[in-house]
Amino acid sequence: MPNDDSKQDLIDGLNEDLAYEYQAVLMYTNYSALASGIHRPLLRDFFEEEIVDELRHAQFLSNKITALGGTPTNEPHAFEQKERPAAMLRQVMQAESDTIERYVGRRKQAENYGDHGLAADLDEIISDETNHKEETEKLLRGISEDA
Ligand SMILES: [Fe+2]
Ligand SMILES: [Fe+2]
Repeated sequence: MPNDDSKQDLIDGLNEDLAYEYQAVLMYTNYSALASGIHRPLLRDFFEEEIVDELRHAQFLSNKITALGGTPTNEPHAFEQKERPAAMLRQVMQAESDTIERYVGRRKQAENYGDHGLAADLDEIISDETNHKEETEKLLRGISEDA
């Protein structure tokens, strides 16, 4: 049976994930506005589409945290502003890779806690983040370092 300690650990972990989802919402909003140069139309649309997914993840986590009896954080994790499209995309690649790793760990934690529904929901989020990472990697292939 799950105990109170492991429940609190899970709530804390989900709040860490939530802070990073808010980071992603802010980062993509910021980058979509700042992206400039010949790649701007493509990057603006790409970043704007990501915002929708990350916001949905943030809403899911907030609801799950309250269902577990916790309080969802209102503090986003900080992110670095970038000016050049290539630098933005590299930053996004790193953030998405780190996020996948974090969710894979959280999925195990949810399974150990005994919340199989949460584990299944996290699988879907892992799938979304993997898609973000792969699409970002494809965009980076076509953008020179000085773009
Ligand atoms: Fe996300
Ligand atoms: Fe993502």
